[in-house]
This record gives sequence, structure tokens and C-alpha cells, in this order.
Amino acid sequence: MRVPGDKSISHRAALIAPLASSASVVRGLSDGADVRASVRAMQRLGAAVECEEEEGRGLTIRCAGGGLDVTSAPRLDCGNSGTTARLLAGILAGSGVAAVLDGDPSLRSRPMRRVIYPLQAMGARVEYDGEPERLPVRFRGRATGTLRTLRHRGRVASAQVKSAILLAGVLARVRVEVSEPALSRDHTERMLAGMGVPLAFDAGRTGAGEVRFDPSDWEGALEGLRMTVPGDPSSAAFLIGAALLGGRTVRVADVAANPGRIGFLSVLEEMGAGVDRDPAPTEGGEPREAWTVHPPDDLRAFSIGGDLIPRVIDEIPLLAVLAARARGRSEIRDAAELRVKESDRLAVLARTLGKLGVVVEERPDGLTIQGRAGRLRGDVDAHGDHRIAMAFGVLDAAGDADLRIDDQACADVSYPDFWDALEPFRRGSRGGSLPRTGRVIAVDGPAASGKSSTARSVARRLGFVHVNSGLLYRAITWWALDRGIAEDEPSIEAAVPGLDVDLVPADDGFDVSVAGTRPGRGLESSEVTARVSAVSTLPAVRDVVLERLRRAGRRHEIVCEGRDIGTAVFPDAELKVFLVADVGERARRRLRQRAAPFTEDDLEREVRRIDARDRLDRSRPLSPLRRAPDAIEIDTTSMSPGRVVDAILELAASAFR
Ligand code: S3P
Repeated sequence: MRVPGDKSISHRAALIAPLASSASVVRGLSDGADVRASVRAMQRLGAAVECEEEEGRGLTIRCAGGGLDVTSAPRLDCGNSGTTARLLAGILAGSGVAAVLDGDPSLRSRPMRRVIYPLQAMGARVEYDGEPERLPVRFRGRATGTLRTLRHRGRVASAQVKSAILLAGVLARVRVEVSEPALSRDHTERMLAGMGVPLAFDAGRTGAGEVRFDPSDWEGALEGLRMTVPGDPSSAAFLIGAALLGGRTVRVADVAANPGRIGFLSVLEEMGAGVDRDPAPTEGGEPREAWTVHPPDDLRAFSIGGDLIPRVIDEIPLLAVLAARARGRSEIRDAAELRVKESDRLAVLARTLGKLGVVVEERPDGLTIQGRAGRLRGDVDAHGDHRIAMAFGVLDAAGDADLRIDDQACADVSYPDFWDALEPFRRGSRGGSLPRTGRVIAVDGPAASGKSSTARSVARRLGFVHVNSGLLYRAITWWALDRGIAEDEPSIEAAVPGLDVDLVPADDGFDVSVAGTRPGRGLESSEVTARVSAVSTLPAVRDVVLERLRRAGRRHEIVCEGRDIGTAVFPDAELKVFLVADVGERARRRLRQRAAPFTEDDLEREVRRIDARDRLDRSRPLSPLRRAPDAIEIDTTSMSPGRVVDAILELAASAFR
């Protein structure tokens, strides 16, 4: 799966990039309502920000840079978004701009003193326009350069408070220091540091957090920002939770792996899940990874508290519904902050789970949840809180439950396509990223086992379309060689998610097009052959290929050949065959294909080459070559090609009956 761009990083890109003195382009921002509120607020403040939506890839913002340009104090509607309101407070204070911050009823009920008080201590002129310590809040504005330095010791770990103070300090160019009892997410620090701001912090440390901005030797300009926002781990958590409840393995591509965000992975491990993490190149100072999460036979209860809480804060609603299905009593402590999120999450979770028949104890700072089996049935009032609605959505889809969840649209603030993304995880759904319509025959096997000619003939005989996954790997390799980046894996990985590469229908199956070109015979060049194996081990490349193959499978009846078709690409294929042959025979077939005489020495060399390739294919960490448990193995060593095809047609006839 892929998930929308990380909400926290997207907010920061939307709010900070326009303040740079040079141009910025940021892609892949979350297209949820929260981030749109941040973009809109900056536009209202006269920042030069253009925002466009790229089909399936989130928002792209382009900022000319140059900061804010405000004539009369605008009213800024932050909607449901606490991050928008609190980070903007720091920006307004630091730049001395007059404006009024406001939000929806949920945001109006959330505490604002935690940001306003330190900003007032720096000398910002701010007043509460309505209820004390709540939105709406009026910033009076003042000449820049008139704020005071601040040393802030926070009582709760809050990335929003920390960010507001840092932004105020940076924009007003006064020294600020923030310490917090446990480190909260450090996206603001990483982004500002990447834009040239002198910050002292310890990226990704655990325990108490501390950050210092000292403008002494800084000339004061923020450099433009260029990055693609990685996927949101908090959104991914819901799909992973659904997969675990359904007993399924899930792979999530390109997700933000900031240590301040991924505490839930260790909680899932405590519950018995297996988590494989594949690192991808860092961008904009933010680590990113692909995750494969395997379900345990039985989910176990967990116990969390202390320093871990800020690193799982947004995932607690999901963890609570998993706890309801785990064996034993789970415990959540030190999480009083949940009472002042989009809803009082401790109260709402306790009440809702209780109504469904789960035994829950609510304490001032946490919950104890006794897991239970059996059907859960009832109504869920999400209180307009996106994470509550999505958590119970997961329970409804993948657990043994029958829930009616009101106001599902509130998921839009962070994950507009959530309910569609959840579909494949619904009980009884067969997986894949979207339901397929066509039938699929998966043909896997080692190098030179006769996959291509067999798959092509089977497709022709059945009137199916032949799809060769190798074409896509070769096309990407050809393109990387053409751009001169074939040896530079980070560049390939960075570029490939946005690369225009796809299968295009041709007379006999599919051809492939990459960056607007059809490489044709170029795909068979010896340079491509030499590099393709290495390129095809890159996780980002595999993700792109997997997605294109599945798309073909949704539109056509296909015979798809490769090395991980039955295991990774189409685990639910109607028929899977795994071709094998003795390595000497495979070497002989390969040499015969070249239609030139060959010696015993040539044969030995070819055997060694195929052996090496087999070892590489079988031992690579990602989608290694192996037979799917439900694939039928055909040893073709002493079979003619025609007999192999006939054998598969017979299997297809009974599989499709
Ligand atoms: C966020 C910080 C956290 C988190 C929120 C997003 C951020 O809030 O719960 O969803 O992007 O800075 P606090 O700073 O209030 O802990």
C-alpha cells in the first residue's frame, strides 16, 4: 500500500517554505483538509504559494519565497487543525503580523495557552477574543525585531508548542531554547536545519528533548525547500492494524520513519507482529522506509507509558481497538494529553469500547482494556474525530464486528481516501490494492527456466495478455543508464516514484514506455542486462513495478511472468505455476537460443552465471525468488516446450472451472 503524504511534515512545508527568501517546490503533501487549511492561511497572509493537486500523488506547492505581505489583519480559519493554529501562532508572533486565528468548534475547545503564554513572554501582543485560553486569538502585530529571547521548559512534550517558539525565535531572530520532558516529533527542527537555520538539537534521540536556536552568526535568510513528502506513518498505522486483525501481511511503501513517530511499530512487535523495515534514501532530513508487517497467530496484550507516549500519541486510538482484540489486558499510561486532542480520546475510547461490550477501565491518564473474542456490534459516535472514526473503521472492516460509524467523512482531515483504502482489508476481501476483475495466471521461476516462451504461448492459446515483469525492470534500468544514474541507487530510488513508466498495449501483449520513450530493442542491450538485477532489488523500483503489474491485472486477463508474481504481486492469482529445470539444461537452452555453436567451456561458464543469478534471486531480502505455497511446480528438464504449455493449459482448465 501507499498512504498520503505525512500530515506533520506537510504542514511544516506549507507554513515554512513560503517564508524562505528563495523559491521552493514540495511535492506529495497530504491533501487532507488540515493541510489545505495551512496552505490557505499562508495565501491569506499574502505569501506567494501556488498549490496544485496531482492525481493520486497529493498536493504540490510552489512558493516564490519572500515571506508574508499583509495589509489588514485577516481572519485565518484553521478548521479542525491544531497544528495549523499553533504553528501559525509562532509565525504571526515572530513576523509581527496582525491577524486573528480561529477554528471549528472542536479546535475552539482545545487549549491554546500552552503556545500563547510563551509567545507573550517573548513580547508578542496577543489577546483571547472569545473564551480565555481558547480560539479565537487576536495577534496585534508589532515591529519585527522587538521580541525577547526565551528559555522555555515545557511540562508536556508538545511538538506544536516547541515549533511555535522556534518559529517565533527564527523569524524575530532572537535566541530561544526549548526543553521538554520527553522528545516530541522533531520535523520542524529537521526542516529548519535543512533550510540553513543554526539549530542545536539531537535528531531522533529519545528521553528528554532539548533544542536551541542562536542567531549570532546567522545572516538570517531561510533557503528554499525542495522535497517530496514521505507517506504518513499515522495513516499507515490504520492499514497495518487492519491487516493484523485480518491475519494478513501488508507492505507499506515510502513512509516517514522519523523516530518521533514510529513508536507504534515496537508496540505491534510487543503484540507479536513481525516488522521488517527497509530504509530508503533520506530526503529533506527526514528518514523514510518501506515496511512489511506480518501478523502473529494470536495478538498479545501490550503495556505502554512514559517516554514512548509522545512517539505513539496519534496511534493510541488504533492501539486501543487492537487491544480490544488481543489476548490479555492491555494498559495505556501517562497519556493525559489524549484528553485535549480533536476529542477527549480517552473518554471517547472508553465509552465506545464499553458500549460494544469490551471491558475498559478509564483513568485520568490512561486506559486498561481487556481483549475479547466474539462479535462486537453497535453504534460508534466518532465525535467528529478522524482518528476515532478510522480506528473503529478498522475494527469494523477486519475484526468480527458489525459497527455503524457516524460521520465517516471526518477522516478527510488527514486521509481523504481512507474508506476506499480500507476495502481490500475487509473480511472476505481477497487483497491486492484494489479488487481485480480479470483472471491471473502467475508464472514464476529461476533464470532461463523457460518462463517467457511458455507464458507467451499460454496467453496466446487462452486469449489472455502476456505480461512480463522483467520488461518494467529493464525499462527502468534503461532509463537509469540513459540518465547516467545507473550506479547511483539513491538517485534511482528518489526519482522512480514519480517516473512515468508503464506497460502499453502492443500487438502481442505489452510493450513498455518510460519517460515518454519506448526503448524497444534497447531493453535487451548488454548494459541493461548487466545492471537490471541490481536495479530490481531496490524497494522503490519493486513498488513501482508491482503497482503497474496490478494495474494491468485489474484491466485484463493476464499471464504474468517474473520471480515474485505468485508470492508478492498477485498472491491471490487463480493459478500459480513455478517452473524449474536442472541448471545444466537451463544453460544449454540459453546457449541454444543464441543460435551459435558452443563448447563445454562455454557451457560451464553459463552454468556458473546462472548459478550466481539464482543465488542472488533467492537471497535478496525483498521478494526473494521462492515458490508460493500454493504454486504448482513443473520440472521442465526433460519436457518439450509444447508439453509444458499443455500442462499449464490443463491446470488452467481445472482452475477456471
Ligand atoms: C503534531 C503534534 C502532536 C500530534 C499532532 C500533530 C505536529 O500534537 O498529536 O497530531 O504536527 O506537530 P502536540 O504537539 O500537541 O503533542
